[in-house]
Amino acid sequence: MKFFIDTANLEQIREAQDLGVLDGVTTNPSLMAKEGITGRDNILKHYVDICNIVDGDVSAEVIATDFEGMVREGEQLAELHEQIVVKVPMIKEGVKAIKYFTDNGIRTNCTLVFSAGQALLAAKAGATYVSPFIGRLDDISTDGLNLIAEIRLIYDNYGFETQILAASVRHTMHVLECAKIGSDVMTGPLSSIEGLLKHPLTDIGLAKFLEDYKKGN
Ligand code: E4P
Repeated sequence: MKFFIDTANLEQIREAQDLGVLDGVTTNPSLMAKEGITGRDNILKHYVDICNIVDGDVSAEVIATDFEGMVREGEQLAELHEQIVVKVPMIKEGVKAIKYFTDNGIRTNCTLVFSAGQALLAAKAGATYVSPFIGRLDDISTDGLNLIAEIRLIYDNYGFETQILAASVRHTMHVLECAKIGSDVMTGPLSSIEGLLKHPLTDIGLAKFLEDYKKGN
């Protein structure tokens, strides 16, 4: 299972990269704005900065919502760095753009996916990744993890190669449940990765080992 971090914060990206378990980064326009990154040139530079920190794939989102605009932006984003994956929203023009990018060797991440039908369309268009937003479904009393299971079943039925990227992950239980279902990737905040580390018995056990070592030395 690949671990992506869902942020545009360079410090947190570095921290996750230093842990040695990071496989990539996802961003979106809201995450960029949160870091105060505005203006096309600054945004493009920030993507390159992120690529220079991590070894894996970095999702960069198009802003256009028409086919021509998405293609224009996506080609510019893909040119920035070989690690860039073009993030395209699940709308009609987006499906056409994903198919275009697939046919032209540009990798894509189909974002804002909230149903199995949308995920099926993304796979048919050849998306590299599909991003079902599990946290946002949970927010409206709909089981986000169930959507991951449905997509897993459909993709396995037909051998679709599109990777399921569980997005809008909020906490460690989302990560663990996605791992059980067989999600290919999860993207979440640094806390959802670091939270996996924690167990009080580990802390108690380590304190005891160190105490006993000191007694004998
Ligand atoms: C995915 O790529 C999105 O950036 C993200 O996971 C959305 O998460 P949120 O629902 O916490 O904003």
